Amino acid sequence: SIHVASITAPVNIATLKYWGKRDADLNLPTNSSISVTLSQDDLRTLTSAACSAQFTEDKLWLNGEEESLGSKRTQDCLADLRQMRQQMEQADSALEPMSQWKLHIVSENNFPTAAGLASSAAGFAALVTAIAKLYSLPQDMSELSMVARKGSGSACRSLFGGFVAWEMGQLADGTDSKAVQVASREQWPEMKAVILVVSDEKKDTSSTQGMQLTVRTSDLFQERIKTVVPQRFDEMKRAIVARDFEMFAELTMKDSNSFHATCLDSYPPIFYINDTSKKVIRLCHAINAYFNRNVVAYTFDAGPNAVMYYLQENESKLLPFFYPLLSTVEGWGTKFTAETLQGFE
Ligand code: DP6
Repeated sequence: SIHVASITAPVNIATLKYWGKRDADLNLPTNSSISVTLSQDDLRTLTSAACSAQFTEDKLWLNGEEESLGSKRTQDCLADLRQMRQQMEQADSALEPMSQWKLHIVSENNFPTAAGLASSAAGFAALVTAIAKLYSLPQDMSELSMVARKGSGSACRSLFGGFVAWEMGQLADGTDSKAVQVASREQWPEMKAVILVVSDEKKDTSSTQGMQLTVRTSDLFQERIKTVVPQRFDEMKRAIVARDFEMFAELTMKDSNSFHATCLDSYPPIFYINDTSKKVIRLCHAINAYFNRNVVAYTFDAGPNAVMYYLQENESKLLPFFYPLLSTVEGWGTKFTAETLQGFE
């Protein structure tokens, strides 16, 4: 017989960036980070996992194409999950020996892969939770987040909805480097996010390579992880719990700029944001100056696409500011449509 489980995992967008590893094998970070998980209806990965005594090898299909399952990251995740299942089987001999069976995994994104739209985060979060469901594992989301983390650091945050912290931890084996929820979606339902797709091309420097270069070569980075981020981590958690958008927005924008500054300070430098991204940054600051308070916050990951956060009540005030840009920014109008502009729940 064949057993199957399916699940969707959403993308998360960091407002306090993970950038730098202290252990590249286990994906242990040099700083804690915070993100907002987008709604399942928008950017997500849908994964189905099947296992059977009849399967002869592990197989993976990604967006319709068969992919090698040989990557160390994927192998590490599968090994952890099988071990968890094996513990259950040892405790209860009535259980089927699924831990010994091969897996077939089918995974599909509803957005471009590797365009700096956090596809690896949703991908590994979905892989881990689909297999955890297939195996009926008793582990909670924080425990499973440590497995997803080995696949891709940012993936650990996609196991929770709402506002999520990845606590960097101190231990060398990574058993305290896990995701926890800071606040649920319902605790701050007015928060919206919109993604401006500046480019859906594959990014130049992968996050993994980029952060390794930054850790090795940037002096500014040392300052960031020692003094800047630890304080900002506490402040941002407080801002979220207090639903203080003014503070949340300031910290989010500053942290995006700090992260991209360490990219520029890497040697040779890494450029993720482009001229269009910079136009968006200037426009957001001009809007906030016009309203005399922060009504919008921007953030950029390892690519030029802008993610903006705002409160629902300000949406109709905000959007008109972006319409004039549609015609002036080349290659933008096509993506920056009403469809792209829908608020993420
Ligand atoms: C800029 O999680 O993709 O999006 O752990 O090497 O897979 P790996 O890196 P990844 O890096 C994400 C970097 C970021 C910031 C963030 O999401 O916190």
